[in-house]
Amino acid sequence: MAASLEPRILVTGAGGFLGRHLLESELREPVAVLVRDPKAWQSQPWAQSLREIELIEGRLEAPERWAAHPALREVEQVLHLAAYVSHSRSDAEHSYRTNVGGSLNAFDFAAQRQARMIFVSTSGTVGCFHSADEIAYEDAPDCEAIIQHWPYYASKLEAERRLRARAREHDIPLVIVRPPVLLGPRDHRLRSSGHVLRVLENRLPCRLPGGIAFVDVRDVASALARLLQLPAPRPLYHLPGFHWPLDRFFETIAELAGGRSLPSLRPSAPLLRRLARGLGALPRQWRDRLSLPDPVLLEMGSAFWGLGSHHAREDLAHAPRPARETLTDTLSWLRAEGHAH
Ligand SMILES: NC(=O)c1ccc[n+]([C@@H]2O[C@H](COP(=O)([O-])OP(=O)(O)OC[C@H]3O[C@@H](n4cnc5c(N)ncnc54)[C@H](OP(=O)(O)O)[C@@H]3O)[C@@H](O)[C@H]2O)c1
Repeated sequence: MAASLEPRILVTGAGGFLGRHLLESELREPVAVLVRDPKAWQSQPWAQSLREIELIEGRLEAPERWAAHPALREVEQVLHLAAYVSHSRSDAEHSYRTNVGGSLNAFDFAAQRQARMIFVSTSGTVGCFHSADEIAYEDAPDCEAIIQHWPYYASKLEAERRLRARAREHDIPLVIVRPPVLLGPRDHRLRSSGHVLRVLENRLPCRLPGGIAFVDVRDVASALARLLQLPAPRPLYHLPGFHWPLDRFFETIAELAGGRSLPSLRPSAPLLRRLARGLGALPRQWRDRLSLPDPVLLEMGSAFWGLGSHHAREDLAHAPRPARETLTDTLSWLRAEGHAH
């Protein structure tokens, strides 16, 4: 249903996992959403029940087609969620085009209206380490040395830098938000739930020596909704959840799923690195045809991830729910949707 008042918020990436939670559960005011394919949007049952939505057709790469839309005249905040999330090095160009170029275009739209730009980045720009139990707070340095060959994270880091520079140049308020992996129900495109699904479908090829940082998508959506209400937010918020060894993560899922078995193969980190190099030498079509993992995923599976926040609790009332609740709800939703039995 079209908005009854001119929207003051533009959400990009509204049709994604996080966007869906924001729109379905958190935002009550009129909102404009930028969507690439309005027919696809309208065909989704969850989107049909939304109220007070102004649908704007457009792509990040072509702002000239949507930025002057009359329904965007009153926009005061741009909540920029849209991104291309693929870890493969074969997708590097697409990642940079969308995540850097597209984000700068969204910023330019905000700057033309003196609107606040909220950029949802990722914990991967700062919170990736060679050893366990390290934690990146908002004042941590970036971790470019580790993530520079992982195009998704590298593109998000480049976007953060370029957006900061442009915000300074134009004196536009910019808020960067960094969540870790999002989990929870209603991941209708199976973006992050793929990690969980792999256990349910016995598709985990081996145990991985590294860790994972994750948070409930519903808690991130709530924090973002509060951020939109703050008159003077800080320029940067981390939205941490839990950082676990991957062994604990997969064992907990296997247990909650009723005792699934996990692979016994446990390659060491150096062996995984050699495997990743070997896989990287194969053409992508071969890897896909043989259902072999992308080398970046093996490299990431040897790394450790940790995120903390000095301000998210106080400013955004961010209090992550228990990890087992998130995993249980993720599993229940996947099962209810018929993805696993
Ligand atoms: N999922 C996670 O675990 C995770 C963790 C940390 C940070 N994040 C960040 O959180 C944000 C939301 O993630 P998500 O999981 O909700 O992502 P998602 O489910 O993959 O959704 C991405 C959204 O971006 C839109 N989009 C992609 N390319 C576009 C383009 N060129 N023009 C316009 N729209 C475009 C997609 O539009 P269509 O509907 O047309 O496909 C989709 O709505 C992203 O910025 C991501 O980097 C995600």
